[in-house]
Amino acid sequence: MTPSTALLSLEQTPPLSVPLRFFITAPLFGITAALLALWVGPDTMGSRWQPGVLAFTHLLTLGYLAMVMFGAMFQLLPVLVGVQLRRPAPISAFIHLLLTAGTVLLTLAFLLDRTIWFIAAAVVLTLALGTFIVTFAHALWRARSTHDTVCAMKLAVTALAITLLLGLLLVLAHTGSDMAPLHALIDLHLAWGLLGWVGLLLVGVAYQVVPMFQITAEYAPQLRRWFSWVVLLLLISWSLSFLHLPQLTWLPGAGLALAFILFALTTLRLQRRRLRRLPDVTVDFWYLGLTCLLLAAGLWLLHQAAPQLIRLQLYHLWWGVLVLVGAAGAVISGMLYKIVPFLIWLHLNNRLQQAAQWQGNVPTMRQVIAERHARRHLYLHAVATLLLLLGAVWPAWLFYPAMFTLAAAYALQMWNLFGALRLYREILRQTM
Ligand code: HEM
Repeated sequence: MTPSTALLSLEQTPPLSVPLRFFITAPLFGITAALLALWVGPDTMGSRWQPGVLAFTHLLTLGYLAMVMFGAMFQLLPVLVGVQLRRPAPISAFIHLLLTAGTVLLTLAFLLDRTIWFIAAAVVLTLALGTFIVTFAHALWRARSTHDTVCAMKLAVTALAITLLLGLLLVLAHTGSDMAPLHALIDLHLAWGLLGWVGLLLVGVAYQVVPMFQITAEYAPQLRRWFSWVVLLLLISWSLSFLHLPQLTWLPGAGLALAFILFALTTLRLQRRRLRRLPDVTVDFWYLGLTCLLLAAGLWLLHQAAPQLIRLQLYHLWWGVLVLVGAAGAVISGMLYKIVPFLIWLHLNNRLQQAAQWQGNVPTMRQVIAERHARRHLYLHAVATLLLLLGAVWPAWLFYPAMFTLAAAYALQMWNLFGALRLYREILRQTM
């Protein structure tokens, strides 16, 4: 099966190594996060302020989520938006190397709590994220396309810049300066990172890839036009109220929860009415991700209405698991199972046609990564999410099974992605 690609500028596609090096490294960080948790044990993972949780969080936010999203941006910007990036191969290699090194340094900094590691991590991550932000801001603001995806991407990159700045301020707090109020700053960094950067980018990409790859109707133009701006304004009002009117933070917070609930329900509705009703593992990953998004938003609203209902520590851990692993992790995995087979199919076609070797010997997208292999990953991911949620309540019983399952899920994802790469190399070796 190949999607309708009429709207893509396929001739602009960058070399396969550009996105793939990010996609293949990401599950490695997912495995590392789970192994690290197994190593430090449940005693240092019981509250969001403990070093184990902070290291785990950044292995997932920077090592997994940002890694995939950076790779996807290198691929999607030229192809979806039609903007040619200058020298994508060396720039992507530079960013990939620094993002990898910076994530490892920040993990060490949290675990060892030493100033020198924090400073090293801050320098390397500023170079990595800074280069990414400058490269893509420059390209996006030059883009002639007026598609709402471009607007969402611009705002997502802006949110990433704010997340980085807030992250650097938080690093300062770890290097001896007297920073207050720290908790408010962490919540701001978290919101700009997860809702602004991750949320807006996934929403912007969904506008295009959900209708194209899942054969659904288009998102309503009003929603596409306003959603990113509303989220941005709510994030700004939330930040201002956090700093100046803390008793009113619930208002923009509730607005953000409702905005993402609206997005999740709209997407579920489009998917339920999709034209092609064949089983599709990507759609099932989306169902899982959107369900977790709805649960996270509902949990936040419930906590505002009745804070005494759930223990604060448990609420934080549940929210983090639902957003990081359940929602963003599942949606991104689902997207990878479309983007990677599509890229392998596209590059094989191009290479064989250029070498005048094309004889219909290019596998379909479903043959590049078999549906049943991707589905095994989906089940493991869903079980890992459930075990992590339950493990927060009964750590003595479920912490280790949860982290083992999470490690296994990422390992399977890596195996599936490597399988696609092996197939690509095999076909080229046989035919050229
Ligand atoms: C780009 C994506 C990023 C995301 C989504 C993200 C997310 C988060 C989250 C969710 C927390 C709160 C953790 C918790 O409550 O347990 C946090 C805390 C923190 N982040 Fe990030 N982060 C990102 C990038 C960065 C960067 C680039 C740096 C450093 C330059 C950084 C440094 C920190 C620090 C120092 C803390 C606070 C730790 C503490 O003092 O308790 N983050 N981040």
